[in-house]
Amino acid sequence: MHMDDKKLPIIFIGFMGTGKSTIGDFLSLEQKLTFVDLDSYIEIKENKSIPEIFNQIGESGFRQLEYKYLKQCMSKYDVISTGGGIIENDDSLKFLKQIKHVIWLDCSIDTVYRRILNDPHRPNAKNKTKKQLKNLYLSRISRYNEIAFMKVNSEKTIKEIYDFIINHLSCG
Ligand code: S3P
Repeated sequence: MHMDDKKLPIIFIGFMGTGKSTIGDFLSLEQKLTFVDLDSYIEIKENKSIPEIFNQIGESGFRQLEYKYLKQCMSKYDVISTGGGIIENDDSLKFLKQIKHVIWLDCSIDTVYRRILNDPHRPNAKNKTKKQLKNLYLSRISRYNEIAFMKVNSEKTIKEIYDFIINHLSCG
């Protein structure tokens, strides 16, 4: 069955390595919805990798691009996976606050650390100790919580996470 239009768009938020792209991709395929990973969209539009963007215009420049492309994607796609730091930008936060189905994927910092350890593609994780990463995560929690319609433990299998989301969306 195709998802009711009133449930769209569905936006995935959450810290790095919590499975936003994997789940967003899976949900969109199962439900025959259009999907975009915002980081990949930014890379294609700017013709630069995320680390290159961070190097050239800094994190604040990247956050402005993220906001600009978030707005573009909102009118083009049914399901959007965002980058973990999108809530750092007040404009993006305010914008996402108006969207109903914002789903927060969350898992333990141990799992996050294992998944993103030494990933050269994530400037905000590179060279960070687990403690530093945890501090960044803790500093972001209240913002994820502020805009989330539901929080989902992403420590489970993709299918379990998917079923949980579908059940909760249909009664929401
Ligand atoms: C970032 C997370 C990344 C990406 C960029 C910054 C962050 O996305 O947007 O490297 O500050 O948490 P993922 O959450 O997909 O890793």
